[in-house]
Amino acid sequence: MNAVGQPISRADGRRKVTGAARYTADLAVPGATHAAIVHSTIANGRTLSIDTAAAECAPGVLAVLTHHNLPRMNPLPWSHLRPQGQTYLPLQDDKIHYAGQPVAVVVAETRDQAAYAGTLIAIDYDIGRPVVFSPPMARDAVDPPQRMWPLSSSIGDAETAIADAAIRIEGAYTMPDRHHNPMEPHATLAVWGEDGTLTLYDSTQMVVGTKKLVALVLGLAEHKITVICEFLGGGFGGKSWSWPHTLLAALAAQAVNRPVRLQLTRAQMYSMVGHQAATVQSIALGAGRDGTLAGLRHDSVNPTSLFDDYVEYAAMASRHLWGVSGGIATSHKVVHVNRNSPVVLRAPMEAQGHFALESAMDELAYATSVDPVALRLRNDTDTDPYSGRPFSTRALRQCLTEGAAHFGWDKRSPKPRSMRDGRTLIGQGVAAAIFTHWRWPGKARVTLDPTGTALVEAAAHDIGTGTYTTMAQVAADALGLAPDKVVVRLGDTRLPESHPAIGSSTAANATAAVLLAAQAARDKAIALALTGRDAPFAGAAPGDVTVADGTLSLARTNRNITYAELLARNGLGSLVGDGDYAPVEEAAGPKAIFSFSAVFAEVRVDPDLGIVRLNRFVGAYDAGRILNPKTARSQAIGGIIWGVGQALLEQSETDPALARFMNRNYSGYLVPTNADIPALDVLFVGGFDEEASPLGAKGLGELTAVSVAPAIANAVYHATGKRVRDLPIAMEKLL
Ligand code: MOS
Repeated sequence: MNAVGQPISRADGRRKVTGAARYTADLAVPGATHAAIVHSTIANGRTLSIDTAAAECAPGVLAVLTHHNLPRMNPLPWSHLRPQGQTYLPLQDDKIHYAGQPVAVVVAETRDQAAYAGTLIAIDYDIGRPVVFSPPMARDAVDPPQRMWPLSSSIGDAETAIADAAIRIEGAYTMPDRHHNPMEPHATLAVWGEDGTLTLYDSTQMVVGTKKLVALVLGLAEHKITVICEFLGGGFGGKSWSWPHTLLAALAAQAVNRPVRLQLTRAQMYSMVGHQAATVQSIALGAGRDGTLAGLRHDSVNPTSLFDDYVEYAAMASRHLWGVSGGIATSHKVVHVNRNSPVVLRAPMEAQGHFALESAMDELAYATSVDPVALRLRNDTDTDPYSGRPFSTRALRQCLTEGAAHFGWDKRSPKPRSMRDGRTLIGQGVAAAIFTHWRWPGKARVTLDPTGTALVEAAAHDIGTGTYTTMAQVAADALGLAPDKVVVRLGDTRLPESHPAIGSSTAANATAAVLLAAQAARDKAIALALTGRDAPFAGAAPGDVTVADGTLSLARTNRNITYAELLARNGLGSLVGDGDYAPVEEAAGPKAIFSFSAVFAEVRVDPDLGIVRLNRFVGAYDAGRILNPKTARSQAIGGIIWGVGQALLEQSETDPALARFMNRNYSGYLVPTNADIPALDVLFVGGFDEEASPLGAKGLGELTAVSVAPAIANAVYHATGKRVRDLPIAMEKLL
């Protein structure tokens, strides 16, 4: 029986729930010291003096580092090519560009000693007035240099099509800054070897990228650096760049000539690593009276730091999702303010863009009196409007129709405020989504050992998504082994180089390399059975050999041999297969590859208090072939909950005078808890996509966080008649 497609429980589940899984800050290294970062309280200006005398004399202190005594680093170029990180490097000069910027590092025998000594450092500032982002500043946004994609696009003539349309919908949509808030704080444990090698245990979604970035900035040869991250306690994109603390830990360890552990405090997680930038978006739709789209314009502005042009490509989805007869135009601009650099946050670009696009589509449904599901079916397209290429697979119609059937959409009464349960208003909303599919190269190695078990190795990651399990399933099927006979090792740069765990790309790409490596190992074993010592299948063709249960069998005979016997007979301690997956870039391929979804939300709204409760949710997803329905369902549940946070709760507030993020903890920054979440109904309707991956899989994880917010906002409109175009949908916006 194939392991792929089975709902197998996580291979690492027992280790995680028993505490045997070690996260970065759990790792014990003999002689480790502890570092604490002291950060600036101002957001703009410079330090005039930093008095470290008292800190240096405090108990347990080994070193106090500031821009006066920290070695200079090499500048980090701003690039969308990996490795990525904030380009303003810490403790290099007296300038302050954002509140919470590192200004000193204390190294001590214990974490408390380091933190306490940090409080003894006295800093004099020359304080400048910070530039703080607010939505009206979007009017003065500027064009950044192009990053991953063109910043603006124009297909056809959107303006004329909108101007000439029978029905026009225009709206401005705003979303706040958000933070990742993983349970595991960012941490680095830096260990230098006698020979000048550096080992970094780092909470990161990209061990390879971190190695390359550290090599570049510290001027070390890449082969002297090892980066290790076996488990991640949540990443969500915040750990997909390298941040200043990782560099500081490495330099602090060099300064004291002992291992240094540096863990950010929860409050520091709001300024020393990235966040999702707010967006100010405007949408204009032009359509016929039957809801057929004629023109679409979508513009987005986001704040970024003074030094990095981070672009949140929120209008990207509008280039691809709906067929639009007359034209589509999009643009992205930025506003530079005193803050640290933003970064991707699950699901970057799409989750913000779809809130605007799919809210506007709901407005169009009401303006044309076309059912919101029917409106979307009417504007479905087989061709990507942006590239003109056919979609590889696009099961959006099935997402809409099967999702609607599961939800019971036909029982919905279309008029706003027409559904009630006693005094509670009931609302039902739908939204569709398209999600970028990434194609990245990756390598993997599969080693069969003399006991007939297999080891899979790649410098890829399981960031909590189930990769340890799905990679074992894929290797098991290719080798003809039970999945529990496969051990997977990830998150270590000494293993074959792979890509970061970002963009929901691992199942389709890094795991494809595992398939190739396992096939290579199996083929080597078959070759040995045909031509090796005492070859049991001598003279037969490779295609006549099958593998199952760790045994190779020759078709139409009763001849067979186990992997273990085969290795022993040939005097081999192991058999190694290498996988090198090198797909062409998506943009260069013949087909446009995207994942799709349609999601349905039912809310209950208290008419007096404006409290919104999610009551039911159905998500229907086309993410190609599902490798493991259990881990996939977990991804979807996590993504939906993530979207509920975006819709109803999450916002990072900035002090308008001091430019500090203010709600820097779990009590000030609200995320959904179990009590906020009803039972979630998850359907997978996609099939094998041969263009997307040899495994047939498309990106899933982040797709499931997309369009939750517009589905809920549309449900809130249906319940209340109030269109909320500013997230989160806090109760005061409904009163
Ligand atoms: Mo995801 S935000 O691309 O880690």
